[in-house]
Amino acid sequence: MTDAYSGLPVNVNEKTRDYIDSIQIEERIIDSVLPDIHTEIFGEMFDTPVMTPAFSHMKPFADTRANPEIEYARAAKRLNAVNWIGMESDETVKQILLTGARTVRIIKPFADREKILSQIRFAEENGAFAVGIDVDHVFGNDGQYDVVDGEQMGPVSMDDIREYAASTELPFIVKGVLSVQDAVKCAACGVSGIVVSHHSGRVPCAVPPLKVLPDIAEALAGTDVYIFADCHIDSGIDAFKALALGADAVCVGRAMLEPLKKEGEEGVFGKISKMNAELITVMGYTGAADPYDIDPSVLWIE
Ligand SMILES: Cc1cc2nc3c(=O)[nH]c(=O)nc-3n(C[C@H](O)[C@H](O)[C@H](O)COP(=O)(O)O)c2cc1C
Repeated sequence: MTDAYSGLPVNVNEKTRDYIDSIQIEERIIDSVLPDIHTEIFGEMFDTPVMTPAFSHMKPFADTRANPEIEYARAAKRLNAVNWIGMESDETVKQILLTGARTVRIIKPFADREKILSQIRFAEENGAFAVGIDVDHVFGNDGQYDVVDGEQMGPVSMDDIREYAASTELPFIVKGVLSVQDAVKCAACGVSGIVVSHHSGRVPCAVPPLKVLPDIAEALAGTDVYIFADCHIDSGIDAFKALALGADAVCVGRAMLEPLKKEGEEGVFGKISKMNAELITVMGYTGAADPYDIDPSVLWIE
């Protein structure tokens, strides 16, 4: 089976979905009241821990939409949710930032490190909420460093991460962490956040992010590093499971494509609003007053 986005021969997405679905939830209703899902991220308050994804290359997915990235940013702004954007030109990033959405700009691991530093500076000067790098896009599927849109990718060392993080006043995030080892390295480099993710299958047989999350959360306990997660987060129940397993917030990736394609901004607004309602409901049923009060022992994992 080939993954539609990465083109890699994987069964990763099926296994990731199955793992999330295999987790069961017990009820703790007595004394529980309607929860509050406001979430603090890097010192700012948001109405929800559910966020939009770091996307790019959206034309084939949203051919009826001229500017899908702007539309989902507008939805994030209305939802008071964090917005993310991936490999886009600085000009597109500027347009997104002009929507007023609090946006995390994820930059590719270009071999040209000056390009990375320049995109970090541009994002900072134009009001990004945070910046980061998706380290899991270093390698292609041909035994070489990847080439994306003609751009050469290159390796990312701890020294590089230290330099990128130190080059900006903004929170710096490493996206594509799928091991305790990398999470600990990120913390040692002074990053503000990590995204636990396999990027919809960059490597065959990648472990489901929610499976590795508890170990990563334990390893980072006592640090200030925020833990974000993505991959197959499609409902408020999925978001709840990720939060219970150690995430501070989650991105909705491909599950957002269909609503975005059909209804643009309204579709994304509706999708995340529905997920918020589902999250509030499951938190109520498990006795969690707010996202910081979710007890992981409500989960039954076989
Ligand atoms: C069309 C598309 C474009 C993407 N572009 C980027 C990107 O530029 N940078 C990035 O870090 N991740 C990118 N991703 C990966 C997503 O941010 C996310 O990690 C991945 O889709 C897994 O989440 P999901 O299973 O909810 O889709 C992209 C994914 C898709 C489907």
